Amino acid sequence: MKAVVTGASSGIGRALSVEMVGRGFEVLGVARNEAALRALREELGPRFRYAVADLSRLEGVERAAEAARELGEVDVLVNNAGFGLRKPLLEHSDEELVGMLMVNFVAPIALTRRLLPLMRRGSTVVNVVTGGIHVLMAGLPAYGASKIALHYATEAMRRELRERGVRLVAVYPGYVATAFHERAGSAPARFARPVPPERVARAILDAVERGRERVYVPGYVALLRVLGPHLPPVG
Ligand SMILES: NC(=O)c1ccc[n+]([C@@H]2O[C@H](COP(=O)([O-])OP(=O)(O)OC[C@H]3O[C@@H](n4cnc5c(N)ncnc54)[C@H](OP(=O)(O)O)[C@@H]3O)[C@@H](O)[C@H]2O)c1
Repeated sequence: MKAVVTGASSGIGRALSVEMVGRGFEVLGVARNEAALRALREELGPRFRYAVADLSRLEGVERAAEAARELGEVDVLVNNAGFGLRKPLLEHSDEELVGMLMVNFVAPIALTRRLLPLMRRGSTVVNVVTGGIHVLMAGLPAYGASKIALHYATEAMRRELRERGVRLVAVYPGYVATAFHERAGSAPARFARPVPPERVARAILDAVERGRERVYVPGYVALLRVLGPHLPPVG
């Protein structure tokens, strides 16, 4: 089985790459941080290869697709790369907004379209969204908007992929202990207890193997679908 994992240099994508190689997958990891990808290759051996690509640019998406074509076929594509910035919407520069929409929303669709010719019936696309789409993430407004766009696209994409025999797993993590928060400029949350990225990785793979369409980690994140609209803004 062959997989492409974006955002493999850190956090959930890194943990997923480790778990997938452990379960016998060949993994192509995609990210910008070459040193981190090289270190992972040294740790995991030849079943992990990587492509250095900036998914905030279409050239980066194309570069990732070219590397995937060298695999010959793809059984699982995980659109996991993403980032947020903790600041008011109106304080984001135009470039930050465009870059965030590219990585969090456009790249998952553009990469899926490019890799579909490599995906047979029975293959799976995984989109990592966030449980935060069900509440107003006042501290990460552009991030929230980009992930809501991904959520909407994911529901549409699931129907379109089904016609080709390709499944889509949407992942809604809660608060995960990764570099995401520091990179976004967030202080550690005082009340929430983060789940380790390895737990998210295992939940994603279990969903891929068991054919589940939506994953909430931890499970109580699913309650936000109902409670979220009644909660005050978070962050
Ligand atoms: N942590 C949480 O609490 C949480 C909760 C809900 C959802 N999520 C989502 O989970 C996913 C993974 O995040 P994480 O928590 O694992 O954070 P992370 O440790 O910061 O990892 C983010 C990954 O995305 C990659 N990435 C960011 N910008 C990129 C770009 N321009 N081009 C290519 N790759 C890029 C990073 O690689 P490089 O920097 O090497 O490019 C890194 O590998 C994201 O989509 C995030 O929105 C996280």
